[in-house]
Amino acid sequence: MSSTEQRLTTSVLVIGSGGSGLRAAIELAEHGTEVLVVGKRPKMDAHTSLAAGGINAALGAMDPEDSWQQHAADTLKESYFLANPHTVQVVTEGAERGIADLVRYGMPFARETDGRISQRFFGAHTFRRTAFAGDYTGLEIQRTLIARTEALNIRTVDTVYITKLLVRENTVFGAYGFDLTTGSRYVIHADAVILAAGGHNRIWRRSSSRRDENTGDSFRLAVDAGGRIRDPELVQFHPSGLIEPENAAGTLVSEAARGEGGVLRNAVGERFMARYDAERMELSTRDRVALAAYTEIKEGRGTAHGGVWLDVSHLDREVIMRRLPRVYQTLLELQMLDITTDPIEIAPTAHYSMGGVWVRPEDHSTDVAGLYAIGEASSGLHGANRLGGNSLIELLVFGRIVGQAAAAYSVGLDAQLRSREAIAEAREEVDTLLSADGRENVRALQRAIRNIMTEHAGVVRNETGLRAGLRELDVIEHRMSEVGVHPDIAGYADLAHAFDLKASALAARATMEAAFERRESRGCHNRSDFPDIDKSLRVNLVWSGPGKISKESIPPIPAEIQALMRTVDTTGKLVE
Ligand code: FUM
Repeated sequence: MSSTEQRLTTSVLVIGSGGSGLRAAIELAEHGTEVLVVGKRPKMDAHTSLAAGGINAALGAMDPEDSWQQHAADTLKESYFLANPHTVQVVTEGAERGIADLVRYGMPFARETDGRISQRFFGAHTFRRTAFAGDYTGLEIQRTLIARTEALNIRTVDTVYITKLLVRENTVFGAYGFDLTTGSRYVIHADAVILAAGGHNRIWRRSSSRRDENTGDSFRLAVDAGGRIRDPELVQFHPSGLIEPENAAGTLVSEAARGEGGVLRNAVGERFMARYDAERMELSTRDRVALAAYTEIKEGRGTAHGGVWLDVSHLDREVIMRRLPRVYQTLLELQMLDITTDPIEIAPTAHYSMGGVWVRPEDHSTDVAGLYAIGEASSGLHGANRLGGNSLIELLVFGRIVGQAAAAYSVGLDAQLRSREAIAEAREEVDTLLSADGRENVRALQRAIRNIMTEHAGVVRNETGLRAGLRELDVIEHRMSEVGVHPDIAGYADLAHAFDLKASALAARATMEAAFERRESRGCHNRSDFPDIDKSLRVNLVWSGPGKISKESIPPIPAEIQALMRTVDTTGKLVE
């Protein structure tokens, strides 16, 4: 045993200190269950803090005719029928309570002069139901949740990288990891583990995530423990990512910009959404706007840098300053561009994993006893197209439910079997990487994976490209056996990157294999060789390891919700 291996024990371990992990931890602490939160980024800067434009709930504050049933209908319709109706009902029905919890914790929502919570339009919602705090909604939610965790004295260590879940007889009993600064190891024993470690959208070159987040960690940890991944191929490309500067490529320009009246134009000045969705224009669904921008660029109507224009300069300066302050600041900071006078050059950016760890809709338990997944790490709500603002509400609703489920599981345990062998394996894995002194550079291989995904599994895919991508990934996986890992005086970031690389490779394989199997175009998943929806593929694809994919049927939509749905019109879904 390493002399610096620390042993910690808790009832419930939460992996990930973003919004979903913190909300689950709050629920546990409020009900008297011991909880420990660990994360690999400073919690104040967790990925949730980047979420911008808003959070959905049918509060009816601006449009009283809204209802949770309509929110459910919009979510299901725009998921292209791949969302799980039960999951959707749980989230939309529980959304008002989720917002009330946040208000109780002190969340400073934007409000109308009479005190009502303001709600704005987001793409493809029937009513105004997106509540917000400027375009810093995620940051304010994160601040609010942190304040609540501090008030409850919840133990949080946000310098711990978890390398492996500890499992015996298909039952989780904790996790193994190391400290990113000192390298000291942790064996954490827990009755239950909640995986809240995000998605995999950073495995594309242009991504709204930063370099060390959303690298597929949840996928790797879950699959390694005996879990499965649902619909890894369903990745949302947000229409508006920055193109420049290269080191910030993909940085999000919030949909709030279009929600407040921003317009999209191609290089010849046309409002091109008229060609793709004349009714909803810039407030069409994200999959359509992203594909429309992609098509304009591909067909030669893009800007000099390979983008399109998003223009808010016609809006009142005061509206921009009050409702889009982050977009304003970001463009000044990154490009010295004043959005009150000039348009923004944008292109689609990998934004959100709509698939994720396979979970049961009722409580987000997984295939492994005692293991739960939540937030972007999980699956079931979004199907083939996520409505903007639905992920923030999901983390509040399921944070509460999963916190309660994990607490009940912990209370119900009579005894827990541990395994010295499982701990030894986890230790050995870290030791092996730490002593690796090969010539392959971890960061360069990460970049190579991002290139493969961008080239072969982007907004539009096809069989030839996916086959080529999988072949290139074989080569990367082979090269990974020759990496060198070199922690230095500054810390153990290189070791973390090596584990991120393993996770990215697994997530890339799952994504391309499932994208290969989904021989149709549906929502975000555009196959140029199969341009139509295939009704027989109205199923979820479940990946359980290389070459292993099964189909899972989706329960019927309740009649009450079905009655509120309009037909999904696919006219205008152009594929190159
Ligand atoms: O564009 C945005 O503000 C993103 C919101 C979301 O992805 O939910």
